[in-house]
Amino acid sequence: MRAFVLAIDGPAGAGKSTTARGVAKGLGLLHVDSGSMYRAAAWLALRKGVGLDEERPLVDLLSRARIEPSPEGMLVNGERVEDVIRTAEAGEAASRVAVHPEVRRRLVALQRSFARAPGVVMEGRDIGTVVFPNADLKIFITASNEARAERRFHELRERGECPDRSGIVEAIRERDRRDTERAASPLARAPDALVLNTTGLIPEEQVELATRWAELARRGAGRATPVYWLGKSFVRVFARIFLDFHVEGLDRIPRKGPLIVACNHISFWDPPLVGATIPRLMHFVAKAELFENRLFGALIRSYNSIPIHRGSRARAGLRGAEDVLSSGGAVLIFPEGTRNKSHTLLAPRAGVARVSAATRSPVLPACITGSNQIRRSVLRQVPIRITFGSPMMPPRSLEVGREEARRYASEVMEAIAALRADQERRYGSDRRR
Ligand code: DC
Repeated sequence: MRAFVLAIDGPAGAGKSTTARGVAKGLGLLHVDSGSMYRAAAWLALRKGVGLDEERPLVDLLSRARIEPSPEGMLVNGERVEDVIRTAEAGEAASRVAVHPEVRRRLVALQRSFARAPGVVMEGRDIGTVVFPNADLKIFITASNEARAERRFHELRERGECPDRSGIVEAIRERDRRDTERAASPLARAPDALVLNTTGLIPEEQVELATRWAELARRGAGRATPVYWLGKSFVRVFARIFLDFHVEGLDRIPRKGPLIVACNHISFWDPPLVGATIPRLMHFVAKAELFENRLFGALIRSYNSIPIHRGSRARAGLRGAEDVLSSGGAVLIFPEGTRNKSHTLLAPRAGVARVSAATRSPVLPACITGSNQIRRSVLRQVPIRITFGSPMMPPRSLEVGREEARRYASEVMEAIAALRADQERRYGSDRRR
């Protein structure tokens, strides 16, 4: 059995540990807090009188020590160090030893050795970027500075310390600066990581959301039918050979777990082109009218299309998309609901928000331009460009009201518009499209 790897990264106090521990417990996986390994290394150095800024002696010290996770927390040479490494000073010291590339190399090798079946949930700063760049799922946890400071404050109080609030905010800023600016593996979000913003969430909500994503990523989503496989291969080859075709942001697409790709819609070609570009099995939400012609209907159905009706029946139609997402699959949706060649994007339909909320699926904005001028693209007069953005969190509640759904759908549309504006800024615009 292959080990399932969930990488959780984020700054201090954003809720990584609560989430990682909760997910690991729920799914029966090993939980490794890589931060506590840096803390343990720093603690050992302080105990042995080795300077925190001296790389060589630190590495020598580590080569003689045994650092390992256990259900009781981190062990150093068999000794439980959990209590002594949790102080604010130990955190500071850890951040200092973590700047040394050779220290990191050693600890990273150790961290990789923990990826054993059934799997591991590892939290840290560089898990999705350096330790496990091919993790099955990457989650980047963030929260506002105020929320993070508040959590740290309570954590320290519970441990019997008397922390000073403004001091904590300052310390968080300083630690962020050091963790993000250091040359060796700085804190960074992997582009394909799902963002989990925990500001305003209670711990149970965080754990529930991350567990759902992990569960679905672990399950893996179906196999392609022969029609799908052939169609996708054909479109890919056609685009590569005949079109002036450019794709950006593929590294931002999460390869596993539920995902809604939301794209603007200017041509019949959009579903096949965008779908064929995404490196995972896609399903497509399409107008029910398209299924009325029996032959064409059968064809697009076998090409993973899900019919959706307008008006009062729309909600029932969206259930097809929800089923796909609830088994860990990916769905391409055009929130404008119809083709729109004008330069002004249409007001979105609320379905994207409803489906995302109900299935807790992140939404990845995407933008396509030029696809309505295929002929001119063949003649190399108009490029066709597809750009993918970064995944957005689903709405907070499972059931969204009309207003909230509209607001969320508008945010998705704004993200699509921003991608297009960025394309135009860099490549100029072709308004004839
Ligand atoms: O998550 P934490 O506060 O326990 O981490 C302590 C320090 O260790 C943190 O300031 C940066 C460092 N660290 C790191 O550089 N890379 C990791 N993967 C985890 C922690």
